[in-house]
Parts: sequence; structure tokens; C-alpha cells
Amino acid sequence: MGSAKDHKDHKGASSLRFDRKVSTDTDPTSWSFQILLAMVFSVLFVGVTSLFYSQAAAAPGSTSANLASFIPTERTIALKGALNNIGPNGSAVPGAGAGFVVASPSKQDPDYFFTWSRDAALTMKMIVDEFILGESQLQPYIDDYIHSQAVLQTTTNPSGTFLPAGLGLGEPKYQVDGSRFNEAWGRPQRDGPALRAITLITYSNWLAENGEKERAKNVIWPVISNDLSYVGQYWNQTGFDLWEEVQGSSFFTIQNQHRSLVQGAMLAQSLGVTCTGCDQAPELLCFLQKFWNGKYIVSNINAQTGRSGLDGNSILGPISIFDIDAVCDSPTMQPCHSRSLANFKALIDSFRKAYGINNGIPLNLGVAVGRYTEDTYMGGNPWYLLTTAAAEFLYDAVAQWKARKTLVVDDTSLAFFKDLYTSITVRTYDSASDDFTKIMDAITAYADSFVAVAQKYTPPDGSLAEQFNRNTGAPLSAKDLTWSYAAFVTMAERHDGQYPPSWGTRDIPAPPSTCSGTSTPGVYAPATAAGAPNVTTPCQVNVVFNVNASTYYGENLVITGSTEDLGSWNIASALPMGSGGYTSERPLWSISTYLKAGEQLTYKYARQENCGQPYIYESQDRTLTVPACGGKAITVENAWVGPTGNSGNC
Ligand code: NOJ
Ligand code: NOJ
Repeated sequence: MGSAKDHKDHKGASSLRFDRKVSTDTDPTSWSFQILLAMVFSVLFVGVTSLFYSQAAAAPGSTSANLASFIPTERTIALKGALNNIGPNGSAVPGAGAGFVVASPSKQDPDYFFTWSRDAALTMKMIVDEFILGESQLQPYIDDYIHSQAVLQTTTNPSGTFLPAGLGLGEPKYQVDGSRFNEAWGRPQRDGPALRAITLITYSNWLAENGEKERAKNVIWPVISNDLSYVGQYWNQTGFDLWEEVQGSSFFTIQNQHRSLVQGAMLAQSLGVTCTGCDQAPELLCFLQKFWNGKYIVSNINAQTGRSGLDGNSILGPISIFDIDAVCDSPTMQPCHSRSLANFKALIDSFRKAYGINNGIPLNLGVAVGRYTEDTYMGGNPWYLLTTAAAEFLYDAVAQWKARKTLVVDDTSLAFFKDLYTSITVRTYDSASDDFTKIMDAITAYADSFVAVAQKYTPPDGSLAEQFNRNTGAPLSAKDLTWSYAAFVTMAERHDGQYPPSWGTRDIPAPPSTCSGTSTPGVYAPATAAGAPNVTTPCQVNVVFNVNASTYYGENLVITGSTEDLGSWNIASALPMGSGGYTSERPLWSISTYLKAGEQLTYKYARQENCGQPYIYESQDRTLTVPACGGKAITVENAWVGPTGNSGNC
């Protein structure tokens, strides 16, 4: 494993901004001619259905000149599209609170009228980057976001309370006014706090460099500090992946968590404050190396998925932690890392066969990209944000090689390059060489061809839904997905040679030689200067409820009880339990929560049916006395007593 110390290239990358000319070559061997060929092919293979959307946007014969006008036009539409989905003034989301980023205006099939911590943080990262690049009118959105998140951090929700141990920070989604979302969901999701920290740290760095260090320190750092505490405390516990489906350890989550701690430590130092949890960074970097299976990145480990592990997770991670200053063998796994490239090829090739609209497209041209080939959500289709992410990944890698002025091809990355430049061999190419220039042009053209795919399936008004149909290319699932728009803008930035500031990958502590799953207890306090309510907490004790209850697929379990913590017998405020540990040997439903020390309570479990049938309650009440203040965590083991349920087959 390469350690941060071994890196050869330690020269500062001085000229980071450069213009890249889009090729207008008409040579029949050029990519623009090949994309035309590919279109003809795909029509022959898939038949007339594939014309459905090709006709709407890029007319057959689309050229790079066409792309050069599409990207800036769509970038403007995309930025506007994202802003339309942010409260309080977003035109598409009336009712959303100030600073809350709504995932999509869609209220049914699917209902995305909620704010997800992940989507919100990624969108606000794009807005911070755009702000730093000169879009000064965006600052009020960032200020509203800081305030909204300071309040949100303190909101009690089904993942737990904020105090004393930060558990509530792992909650994935909230109502658009910031109140809790109370239904069963894949929780916790531990990428949210890390992504939010990265966004706020990036903004704070800008403030510190622009004469507003005190504001960064007094107002924003307290929000960041809670999130980094959460990362440092819980990174080594499993959670749900970014697609909200798999409980385990997720590459995307660990990679972003690592970045947040590194960047957090640097900010803390510059502000003269302490970062609790940041000391865990080398351990995360160590763990990050475990996702590589020798051929590609297995996106979810410590999980049972029955999938290959090839997942768009593994390209969204690298573009999120992209650092223009990074060396390619950095263990942070940048886009230009040999393993990232090998993984990119394996992932993209998996989609070549999976979707009808990709039929017949040659290996040197981009295709429509989805989450993973085994996906069945909404029919399992390509996503706009993943197709543009593929382009962004390649633009990033090219930018890094050009900035380092060198390209190292090794056995791991050779196959990736071979598809694009057949005469390439295992060796180092210096930027002064002819080959280097040609290879960079080939990879840039490959990146452009992914954008051309997104363009082909974008309707004439430029709106971006979540997905497009695998056989016809017609948009589907949530309309105007905020994340689709944010992803287009960041891709367009890279296409135009615009890069976010370095996050310091050159100076990171190397991972230890043996990994260990350690944890640093967090320090949590409401960020009152940013507007959080001054919540305090009575002394609480951690109580884990485990109950064995065989359930049918779609049936969920909740715990309801006499105290406020358990919803005062109001079933709408009952706590949803998790089935992450459910196996055929043990039908375990579980929840870890904090209850008031010394309190006596009665409780029971209830089954929530899949089609809105009435809840089914246990036939008895149970009692519990929570240990006194300062007492150790307890685990209660129960087995369901009462009637079972039946699917409503809706
Ligand atoms: C199932 C999907 O696969 C998942 O990604 C999504 O978040 C949830 N449903 C909610 O829409
Ligand atoms: C489903 C996606 O799987 C998840 O990543 C996302 O957060 C939500 N939709 C909301 O966009």
C-alpha cells in the first residue's frame, strides 16, 4: 500500500486552471465520427424505440461542437433547477423551510418531497464551489443552509437524540420544514454528517482566507464539530449505503468520512480549536484500502448483498474527494489512481451489457450509467447523475495527470487505457511527449462521449429527472431531481477546467500498517451561534431493545410505550426498529436508543403492515426500569408475543 510519504511528486501544482479546446476534428477515425457510427448501430440493434429520445435532443450527427454549446446551456438550466428546489423561495418547492434542499418536487411515485442530508450536502457543496468560483449571489443560500442544519442537528428523530451521543445525526431524511420523518427507513446513514462537514469546511476555509475567520470559528465550526465527532465515533459501525438499501460498510461513505476528518483537522488548526474525532483519519484511510478485491472496488463490504459489488458508489466517491493537487498513488483513491481506473472500466463495462440503449456502443465510447446492474428500483435504469459522474471522473483524472505532468501506466490500469489508446504500454509518459498529449485527448474525448449520452436523453427543456428508461431513454422516476442538477454543474466545472480548492491530500498522515476499528467518543453541543436551540438533556442511558419476530417482506416493527421517548403510546410517534441483523436463523429486530435515567416505563412492540392495514400489537404490556444516571448501557432481549400479520398484497 502506498503511503502518503512515498509520493514522488511534491511540487506545488501552480498553474491549475487551463483551457481545454474541444476538438472539432472531422477525421473519420475521430470520436465524433465514431459516436455517429454508434448511434447508427444502436438504432439497428434496439430498433425504433431508441429514437424516442435521440430525436428530442441531440440530432443524430451530434458533434463535439454541439456538445460545446450544450454544456454551458444546460449548466445554466441545472444551476437554476437546483435553486428552484431550495426553500424558502424555491419556485418548485413551496412550503420548504429556509435553507432546506428538497430532493425533488415530486410528491408521488416516488414521493421525494423531503430533505435528505446527503442530497442536500452534495448540492450545497456545488453551490459553495460555484460561490468560490465567483457566483457571489449564491451566498444567502449558504447562510440559510448553515442555519437550517444547526437546527436540524438538534432534532430528535428515529435514529436517536442529538444529546448525549450524537445518534440523531445519522438520520438520512427529514420533512421539508426540518421536522422528523417518522416512518421505517434504511437508517442510520453515516455519509450525511461527513458530506455536510466537507461542504461547511470548504466554505469556512474561504471565509478564513477572506477576513472572516471569527465567523468561521464562532458560528460554523460548532456545526462542523458535531458532524466530525459523529464520524470519529461511529465510522467503524455499519450503516446504510448511499442508495439506502444495504447495511454494511460503504466505500463512498468511508472515503468521504476520511476526507471530512482530514480537512476538519486542518481547519481546526487554522482556527485554533480542537477537533474531536479527527485523530481517527489514518484508521479510515487504512480501512479504505479493504474495498479493493484485486480487480475492482467492492462498494459494500461487511454486508450480504448477493451482488457483484460493482456500483456507481465507487465513482461518486472519487469525484467527491477529488483534489487537483493530489498525487495519483495517494491512498485516498483519487480518480487518477490505477485502482480507480481499473474499477472504472469494470463498472462501465458492466453497464454496456445491462441496458438496451447501450447496445452496440464500442468500448471507446461512453454509455448510460446506473447505480448497479442488479438494481430493480423503478425498473433498474440508468441515472443522469451517474452518467455525468462518469464524465466528471475522467475530466478529473486528465486534470490530475496534466497538473502532475506525468502519466504512469501500470499492470492494474493498462486495460482501462487500451480501450482508448491501443498502442499504450506499461511505462511512464512524460507530458512533453506526443503520446501523452494524444492519450489525454483520447480520454477527454471519452469523457465528452458520456456527456453526449446524457445530452441525448435530456428533453429539449433541459429538465433532469432521476433516471431514464433502459430501453427507450425516456426520463422517469422523480422529476427535476436536485442531485441530477448539482451533478451536471460539477461535471461542467471540470469540463471547463474549474477545480475546487485542494483539501490537503499532500499532507495527510499515512495509514497505519495494521488497521484497527477504533473510535473516539464525540463531544456534542448545540451550535447556538448558528441558530440551534439550546437543547439540554436530562441524564440518559443507552438501551438496546432486541426482539425476535418473524415478519413477511414489507412488514416492519415499531416499539411504542408510556414515556415521551417512546411516543406516549401514540403509534405515530413510536420508534421504528431496524432489521439489519435479521437472518433466517434469527429474526432479529433491534433499536438502540437513549432513555431517561431511572425512569419506569411500560412498552410493547407492534407490527406495521405493508398496505396500510391496522397495526398489530403484542398481546401483553412489558415493563422496564431504566438504570440510574451514570449506569451502563443495557440490552433487553424479547420475543414477540401476539398475533402475526399477513401481506395486504397491494
Ligand atoms: C428504494 C430505492 O432503491 C432506494 O434507493 C430509495 O432510496 C428508496 N427506495 C426510497 O425511494
Ligand atoms: C434515492 C437514492 O437512492 C438516494 O441516494 C437519494 O438520497 C434519494 N433517492 C433522494 O434523492
